Amino acid sequence: MAKKTRRGHLKAMDGQFEIELTINGREAKWRVGASESLMNALRRQGFKSVKNGCDNGDCGSCTVLLDGKPAASCMLFAAQAHGRALTTVEGLGTPNDPHTIQRAYAESGGVQCGFCTPGMVLVTKALLDENPRPDEAQVRRALDGNLCRCTGYVKQVQAVLDAAERLRREKK
Ligand code: FES
Ligand code: FES
Repeated sequence: MAKKTRRGHLKAMDGQFEIELTINGREAKWRVGASESLMNALRRQGFKSVKNGCDNGDCGSCTVLLDGKPAASCMLFAAQAHGRALTTVEGLGTPNDPHTIQRAYAESGGVQCGFCTPGMVLVTKALLDENPRPDEAQVRRALDGNLCRCTGYVKQVQAVLDAAERLRREKK
């Protein structure tokens, strides 16, 4: 059976799909289970920044950017990534060369245990790509779906506002 997508046909073989996607700017071809979640497929492929907090769409720790928009990867089938562009924090920066947003989180104290951080950083990236000058209420709304058990959110809101300012300065 083959289902047409904008990238071509989704091939099904032995209860699996072969999907083609772009992950952090690189083309990839993966075999995924027919009912496998995108979160599990990403972790199986080594993208361990994608965390399983609730497996139920409630916590935001499995957030990825799907064509630039935040999405809970636990609530998607891996096959739904066929023909799409995904971003995880592995695609933003490295420990030696962090993205400006990652630097702002680390330096503002917005990272404690770090479990929620990849999802928060990606939500921040999507927000600042769309709105480089958010106010505090807009930041709080953007982070609304991402739960944190450690920080009380104040530091993360500050991190987003700091990141916005740093990115604006870098663009000058
Ligand atoms: S693990 Fe996906 S929203 Fe919690
Ligand atoms: S820093 Fe620990 S859950 Fe957010």
